[in-house]
Amino acid sequence: MSIKSANMTVMTKAARKAARHLKRDFGEVENLQVSRKGPADFVTNADLKAEKVIHDELSHARPGYGFLMEEGGEIKGSDPAGRRWIIDPLDGTTNFMHGLPHFAVSIALEEKGEIIAGVIYDPIKEEMFTAEKGAGAFLNDRRIRVSSRPSLEESLFATGVPFMGRPGHDLQLAEQRRIMARSTGIRRWGTASLDLAYVAAARLDGFWERNLSPWDIAAGVIMVKEAGGIVTEIGGRALRLDGDSIVVANSKLHHQINKQLYEAKRSKPNSEDSGSDS
Ligand code: IPD
Ligand code: CA
Ligand code: CA
Repeated sequence: MSIKSANMTVMTKAARKAARHLKRDFGEVENLQVSRKGPADFVTNADLKAEKVIHDELSHARPGYGFLMEEGGEIKGSDPAGRRWIIDPLDGTTNFMHGLPHFAVSIALEEKGEIIAGVIYDPIKEEMFTAEKGAGAFLNDRRIRVSSRPSLEESLFATGVPFMGRPGHDLQLAEQRRIMARSTGIRRWGTASLDLAYVAAARLDGFWERNLSPWDIAAGVIMVKEAGGIVTEIGGRALRLDGDSIVVANSKLHHQINKQLYEAKRSKPNSEDSGSDS
């Protein structure tokens, strides 16, 4: 059973409130899916609405804390301890827009540059992942830990695949080539926060992705660390939220996957097809 801090109670309440709106809107998206225009504008509004709900809830509960939000950007706070919320109101927008029931609300609390608490809520599966510095990671109040699989060949990984307009297509293919030849498999779920939560819950053995933003990973990073996992940038450097890559795994696997990803970069072909001819 987890013992929650007052901040954690505030965070889970805000996540649930935003998720109620998202769930309602997700039902509507399923109807809009078949229209010619598609649900894009509607989804943008769902995103903005969820972020406003979280912002209103958190600023009311903790006046003075700052914000870093995907939609609204940075709002400086007046808190002497430099605390701020890092928020992705809807992680997995593409899934949401296509009626795929796999997305989440992600909220982290940062203090003087360090993440001290995180919440990732999947409203469809009603799974609330929480973690606080020094207090462990939980899924719906049940303690979670990273897997203990020791070798790549019995391990399952997730990654993020860049799409049209994003860099790194060839590098991602080179990385996949190395990992798929040495592991049980690779998944692409489309929601980075849940990829990290799933590593924390031992559903996946590891995850890597390049070019994510701070709000995609802030809550997930503390989730994995508090579940006993290792979190770095690809290459082994200490993770920076605004860095260019992330690789997480249990302590036995981390150096193995990191080595493969590092080798993929060293041997990657130079050509880059970003799809601009289509
Ligand atoms: C995206 C998801 C996805 C990742 C993308 C992110 P969004 O966030 O986390 O898994 O591969 O790079 O941008 O746009 O759905 O909030
Ligand atoms: Ca995101
Ligand atoms: Ca988002």
